[in-house]
Amino acid sequence: MHRVLVTRELPSGGLAPLEIDGVEIVGPRFGDVALTPQEMIAEAPNVDAIVCLLTDRIDEAVLRSGAAGRLKIIANVAVGYDNIDWNTAHSLGIVVSNTPGVLDETTADTAVLLMLAASRLASDAEADLRGGRWPAWGINQYLGMDVYGATLGIVGYGRIGRAVARRATGFDMNVLHHSRTPSGEPGYIADLDELCARSDIISLHTPGGAATRHLIDARRLALMKPTAVLVNTARGPVVDEAALAEALHAGHLFAAGIDVYEHEPQVHERLLSAPRAVLLPHIGSGSLATRRNMALAATGAVAAVLRGETPTNLIAR
Ligand code: DGY
Repeated sequence: MHRVLVTRELPSGGLAPLEIDGVEIVGPRFGDVALTPQEMIAEAPNVDAIVCLLTDRIDEAVLRSGAAGRLKIIANVAVGYDNIDWNTAHSLGIVVSNTPGVLDETTADTAVLLMLAASRLASDAEADLRGGRWPAWGINQYLGMDVYGATLGIVGYGRIGRAVARRATGFDMNVLHHSRTPSGEPGYIADLDELCARSDIISLHTPGGAATRHLIDARRLALMKPTAVLVNTARGPVVDEAALAEALHAGHLFAAGIDVYEHEPQVHERLLSAPRAVLLPHIGSGSLATRRNMALAATGAVAAVLRGETPTNLIAR
């Protein structure tokens, strides 16, 4: 009988493809707490598949341990897979899957939520209200930037970036985009520096990993308009968090809407205390339906591989 390690509790119904195929599921005995690296290494050779979350580090030690046993697939319940050493996985003959497609619209909704909330200073204003610091309506209070009609610069023009672009047309925004490969579409800006300088709102939608680490650093933050708003729903390390915090404190950037952090769950102290920052705890894909669909995409890929099929959501070698 096939055995599958599911590292954390998944949304209700998310295990269905494995249950239908009569697979033995290992995991609930761990409860909803992360496995230690030692537990992961110990379990890996005894299972055919690992269904994991972006908070699980699937490194060389886990993969080598699994390869010495029966491990065939790592299924990440996320579209990003920077938590998995997928090069090593591939070299050991272990396939890796992710969950593209099912979370695009929900994540794009979150990007728009952050654009609006940050541009209109929603967090600072709400904190004042809750803290009893709102004396009365004032004509000069909490004056934000308009989102409608603004120039939006989308960095990373994959499925989620495009979903954000579709929403932006409803706000009459002028949409620019940048990606490593020219899109050939109107609004494409080859030079990221130029996009940073021209945009009123910059929304990040690149993958994580070494290639995009600190893509938005102090130099690029300085290129942005002092009235600009930065939104990050991609991966924390894409932005130099310390530099972002300094830019907000110094008033060199108008506001930021951030859902992801360099060292989750830690958030840079200077960012926590920064003005005009809307900070969410990595909830980009966090709707009931989407999280269930992500779980189904991951467990569906495992079920397919264990039946000897090739699911469409394998990460290419
Ligand atoms: C992902 O899928 O990569 C998100 O960060 C979580 O939904």
